[in-house]
Amino acid sequence: MCGIVGYIGPKEIVSVLLGGLEKLEYRGYDSSGIACVLEKEGCAKLVSVKEKGKLISLKGKLAKTKGVSGHLGIGHTRWATHGAPSTENAHPHGDCTGKFFLVHNGIIENYAELKRELIRKGHRFSSETDTEVAVHLIEEYYNGNVLEAFRKAIRRMNGFFAFVMITAHEPGKLFAFKRSNPLVIGIGAGENFVASDVPALLAHTRRVIYLDDNELAVVEKDKVSVLQLESGKPLRKEISVIKWDTRQAEKEGYPHFMLKEIYEQPHVIETTLKALMKSRRVLFENINASVEKRLKKIQRVHFVSCGTAYHAGLVGGYMVEKCVRLSPRTAVSSEFRYENPAINENDLIILITQSGETADTLAALREGKARGALTLAIVNVVGSTIAREADCVIYTHAGPEIGVASTKAYLAQLMVLALFSVYFGQLRGALPAKRANGFMKDFLKLPSQVREVLKQEKVILRCAQQLYQKRNFLYLGRGFNFPNALEGALKLKEISYAHAHGYPAGEMKHGPIALIDQTQPVICLAPFSCTYEKMISNIEEIRARKGIVISIASRGDGEIQKLSHYVFYVPQTEEMISPILTVIPLQLFAYHIACLNDRDVDQPRNLAKSVTVE
Ligand code: M6R
Repeated sequence: MCGIVGYIGPKEIVSVLLGGLEKLEYRGYDSSGIACVLEKEGCAKLVSVKEKGKLISLKGKLAKTKGVSGHLGIGHTRWATHGAPSTENAHPHGDCTGKFFLVHNGIIENYAELKRELIRKGHRFSSETDTEVAVHLIEEYYNGNVLEAFRKAIRRMNGFFAFVMITAHEPGKLFAFKRSNPLVIGIGAGENFVASDVPALLAHTRRVIYLDDNELAVVEKDKVSVLQLESGKPLRKEISVIKWDTRQAEKEGYPHFMLKEIYEQPHVIETTLKALMKSRRVLFENINASVEKRLKKIQRVHFVSCGTAYHAGLVGGYMVEKCVRLSPRTAVSSEFRYENPAINENDLIILITQSGETADTLAALREGKARGALTLAIVNVVGSTIAREADCVIYTHAGPEIGVASTKAYLAQLMVLALFSVYFGQLRGALPAKRANGFMKDFLKLPSQVREVLKQEKVILRCAQQLYQKRNFLYLGRGFNFPNALEGALKLKEISYAHAHGYPAGEMKHGPIALIDQTQPVICLAPFSCTYEKMISNIEEIRARKGIVISIASRGDGEIQKLSHYVFYVPQTEEMISPILTVIPLQLFAYHIACLNDRDVDQPRNLAKSVTVE
């Protein structure tokens, strides 16, 4: 959470920083700020402008503020951890002398103790943040050598953080550091950049250096030096070239990124299949012979992830059970990491994450690795920390996902999980070739089937127009479609702020049925499947209590129409991959309910796209 940018070069600083922050606003948007170096008559002075609220508020303030310009600076967009969202708590934070300014993403765990120490030494604090401790600590240690003061201060701090700092003492440099939270350096010609994520750099360069944990960088306009924190030894870093299409990070005429991303889903499935399926066989570049050898011997499989990715893990559990005949366990990362998991080299941990930076998932990965388990990451963001640290990685090929509510990344996760389950089942001799071929044929039909579901948008909108004022929704599903009941409810909650609850339909009679009366909408996932008849019985039970039934059903199911107030149809497909289709009406439903309630769809309150704190 929180987005960081830094720039040094010939361009005008304010527009470069604001352009970068715009691309990072998905990481937090409760306040923002910039600081830059003003050089006058050979003398360097730092100025900072900050404002509560979204970036637009900072832009307004900057338009009225004179004298903020230059060619070196830092910027920040915040998701509050320590201290309320306010102008005082917004970054950059400065020291007592005004000679150091710093932006931060992460948490300084021992900040309270350090703050007490610094106050005793006479430092004056002007915010409630943990961040301010870092800049005063650097001031405290400064003795003519900025890099040494920066290093010394970082070594006193516990926690997970990325920093970028500027100082009037050495005005031609950006000082950066990364531990756990991402930081990438953009390499330009006569200019260089630092940012939390690649989209902030794409307007300027595609050549990047990913900092690894505990690496420190000194960035000048035509030079980047990277060194190890503890030893201070210089490091040789590889330059990677980003291949993303910049248009992928634009709305391209859609009112929201979320809607654009929903409509990108046929293409996402095509791209994922193209990348991972060759001549009707699943092929994972990153799974080499020694990993295959281990996969054959694995005794237990764990899916570990958060939020929407956790729901993908639940679907993955059903898929592995079906294709591999193992009984996987699915856990949320924040539980897994603290439960002292009983795992060893016979365990496979599959970490699923769009961002590749989620703090709890990263911690779970490290926990698993430390205990000798084989770790496989399913990740969307190329080069992210989890992608780099796992034993092997499968990328989801969804392209940049900007909307806070995950849509296309979820679909790509489900596609990868289906492909992996088929591959894993064949590798272990649990899935006959004929069955695997059948799945492959079904996979190839998915792009056009996803397109067909998208054509239902008008029907879904009409239903949303009838129900958007409701404050409580119940979602029911069974088997492969139970996780989508959770996902549909999560989508609705996060962007519309209505209460929504997902439940396994068979559990309805154990409690939730008490909710049902003529005011209660119930979304029932009921495509043809081995539990179809059971779902129909659940729908009958809802009708008997006058509930409002919204069914997601297979095309050709005429009967369900008679039992439902609204039906959204999806093409018939193999049960295992039906969640790839049934989730789409749920995404569109949540989207329209949120829009009709005038919600901030792409940046819902209190949320951030990438959750890099516990
Ligand atoms: O980047 P990750 O996939 O690890 O993120 C996990 C969750 O934070 C994420 O899925 C979150 O729940 C989304 N806002 C859901 O739409």
